[in-house]
Amino acid sequence: QIQEKPVPETTFPWERGTYDPPPAYAWLREHEPVRRVVLHDGTPAWLVTRYNDVRSILADPRVSSNQNLPGFPQIELLPRPSEEESTFLNMDAPRHTLFRRLISKHFIVKKLEVMRPRIQALVDEHIDHIIDRSEPFDFVEEIALPVPSTVIAWLLGVPPSDHPFFNRETEALLAASLGTEEAIERATEAYANINDYVDRLIAEREKLDDPGDDILGDLVRASREGQIERRDVLNTAWLLLVAGHDTTANMIGLGMLTLLEHPDQLAQLQAEPALIPDAIEELLRYLTVVHLIILRIATEDIEIGGVTIPAGEGIIPLNFAANRDDGHFPDAAKFDIRRRPRDHVAFGYGVHQCIGQALARIELQIVFETLLRRIPNVRLATDPADIQFKSHASINGIARLPVAL
Ligand code: HEM
Repeated sequence: QIQEKPVPETTFPWERGTYDPPPAYAWLREHEPVRRVVLHDGTPAWLVTRYNDVRSILADPRVSSNQNLPGFPQIELLPRPSEEESTFLNMDAPRHTLFRRLISKHFIVKKLEVMRPRIQALVDEHIDHIIDRSEPFDFVEEIALPVPSTVIAWLLGVPPSDHPFFNRETEALLAASLGTEEAIERATEAYANINDYVDRLIAEREKLDDPGDDILGDLVRASREGQIERRDVLNTAWLLLVAGHDTTANMIGLGMLTLLEHPDQLAQLQAEPALIPDAIEELLRYLTVVHLIILRIATEDIEIGGVTIPAGEGIIPLNFAANRDDGHFPDAAKFDIRRRPRDHVAFGYGVHQCIGQALARIELQIVFETLLRRIPNVRLATDPADIQFKSHASINGIARLPVAL
């Protein structure tokens, strides 16, 4: 339902709820579907809030993802990566197309399905660790973080003996979002450690006549052939690590909490596990954890929603607002595992649509199916009011989730 809330005067982004977007999104969708706002650094940007408009902007060749263009919207207070640290997330065609072509074959469903038994064994191993616990434990630390980080380690060809190091460092990296001085210092150190480590992995491949047929091998071959720079190999590895870990980890943690807070839906799912793939799609839509990452800039004047976005101004197509558009998803604020929201935009839309979505789906399906089967008695071990949400981050999630069996 539309809340008659005026739009905040403060700079964007605005305060959101635990599960819900800022109330102003609903008001904007109804009254001013494309609206100019000001960001913390004073630059203007256009919010797009309706489902159809969000998709149309993301499919429009007149928008760019190049964050080095003046006026490109910046949400995080952190300094933006330098030009030489750019990844294909922030490139346009034809360079963006080249990178997608180089690695997309590793992300197709058929290839990933082969990983199912391995991911299943990984999830089982982590559940073995906790299944006999009589004390409460942190679900994020035991399940949500290590599963996706190990899967990324496989993708990048990190040998098993280095997994403990890799998982430890990637977790320290993510802890930066807690914002404490100690966590930020440790994250900076982890950044340097991972960078050196991945750089060594690449150097080892470069010594081989045949660098291998996995992602790193394909990238090293492309750099040898002069299609990309050596620096691009490292940047792409970083992109996969960052884009594939925090996102999936937060979906697992926040997804678990959502189910625990909707016991009727949880019971339905336990009675009918065939609903799990649908429930995952609904969790993706309802939570839209990656809610402030999709940023663009207009390269030409673009008419949309009754206004003209001038060339050179930033655009923020709000996938969270689109996924909560009642015009597209009736009663969108309701979490309903039987909804089957096939065309949600939690993974974005258009040429930059998440390359890792099939992998994320497989991980989420296995994790939730196994949890419901093996630890059906899992319950919250804290007052829900005490749970800390990363609601100020561009990727929503929870740092800790105390649960008990
Ligand atoms: C892009 C969400 C998991 C790799 C994106 C985008 C979204 C997204 C919204 C679009 C960004 C834009 O349009 O600017 C998610 C969510 C995930 C997830 C919600 C988990 C539930 C993964 C995984 C990987 C991955 C597991 C890889 C291992 C990427 C990459 C891009 C991307 C490389 C950039 C694609 C491009 O620019 O062409 N993701 N992602 N993501 N994602 Fe994911």
